[in-house]
Amino acid sequence: MANSMLKSTISNSDQGFLDYVSLRKDFPIFANGDVQGKPLVYLDSGASSLKPKSVIDALTYFYQHDYANIHRGIYPLSIRATEQYELARSKIGAFIGLNGDLGQLIFTKGATEALNLVAHSYGELAIQPGDEIVITNLEHHANLVPWQQLAIRKKAKLVFMPVAQLPTIADLDEEFLSRYITKKSRIVAFTGMSNALGTLLPIHAIGSFAKAMGAAVVLDAAQYASHEKLDVTTLPVDFVAMAGHKMLGPTGIGILYGRKELLEAMPPYQFGGDMIWRVTKEESTWNELPAKFEAGTPPIAQAIGLGAAVDYLQQLGMDRIRAHEKALLDYALSRLDKIPGMRIYGEPGSDTRGGVISFQISGIHPHDIGSVLANDNVAMRVGHHCCQVLMAELNIAATCRVSFYLYNGPDDIDELEKSLQKAIALLR
Ligand SMILES: Cc1ncc(COP(=O)(O)O)c(C=O)c1O
Repeated sequence: MANSMLKSTISNSDQGFLDYVSLRKDFPIFANGDVQGKPLVYLDSGASSLKPKSVIDALTYFYQHDYANIHRGIYPLSIRATEQYELARSKIGAFIGLNGDLGQLIFTKGATEALNLVAHSYGELAIQPGDEIVITNLEHHANLVPWQQLAIRKKAKLVFMPVAQLPTIADLDEEFLSRYITKKSRIVAFTGMSNALGTLLPIHAIGSFAKAMGAAVVLDAAQYASHEKLDVTTLPVDFVAMAGHKMLGPTGIGILYGRKELLEAMPPYQFGGDMIWRVTKEESTWNELPAKFEAGTPPIAQAIGLGAAVDYLQQLGMDRIRAHEKALLDYALSRLDKIPGMRIYGEPGSDTRGGVISFQISGIHPHDIGSVLANDNVAMRVGHHCCQVLMAELNIAATCRVSFYLYNGPDDIDELEKSLQKAIALLR
């Protein structure tokens, strides 16, 4: 199983790199991902990460040994399934620093649903006509459209902080923040790490400033949580949204962390089974947290799979994962920079950038580059990356985006470079 492999990878780091060659053996898709003899070069973890065998095994084991619906049965199988589901909650809670009240950790079907939950439920409670909701101009649509629609519903104003226009994110200071976050701001929602550019936003600076202004702070950690250590108890945030499938877990599972007082005051997001306490013909009352926000049969197996994913990440260590990605970013940035006509978007160095590089090559459409790379079995994303507002601000339609994770190594960057040179030779 993964554990024995992990021991060797931890002790075998060199220049910050994990032993990615050994780690790849934990991910069965590498043994099955060849196309016409070309091995898989997976540079699309920003869209979704690959899955280690331990996660796949946890899902299979659960379906084969412990599967039943939860919270409802008094028979042994249902009790076991409920225990597994709640064990996953406590593992994931510990992973984000939440050792206490697990009512603050709600399972959703993804980061998108977690953000919609906050926008609908907290938004309903907190936003009045004329209030302001502040986001940045590099948000994923999942952290933009719910706030835009809330602002429309409530006749509030959506304010965009133009962080993408700063020379570097290190220039974001209080003077900049004070131009956008004011006493009128009721909610400030921003990403910890941009999926399109990789930019790591200064969570402490933005969160503290927003809180001092009296706003609730929503952190979109869909990218951030898979790359950086996250402790929700020490960050100046009220809500955090995460995506299980980007952090080695299955699809169909996300996390919402919310501060207890706020979650308790908020109305339910969806109605149905499990979230109620008592129902009569005339009215209903609501269950305690977290059940109040988990209406219907939840993603049981997916939560258990995410528990196994978190075990894997924790054994490897988020600090080591970050160090590996930083070393890989330094290598990749130095190699890509030498390609003629290359334009790299986002932060200049790896200190303020997570494992993402967005680029264009002059005179060649990103989709054409993507097609040549696809032929070489190099998986890279092209397009607007669900960031149409950002693309409009940068005055471009699309970029090529490569995104890294713990199983990538410099050999992947070498293959990427070779394939890009081939694309240039073919298409220019
Ligand atoms: C920064 C960011 N936020 C939110 C999301 C939405 O995540 P999901 O599609 O898993 O709900 C994504 C997905 O790419 C993302 O990158």
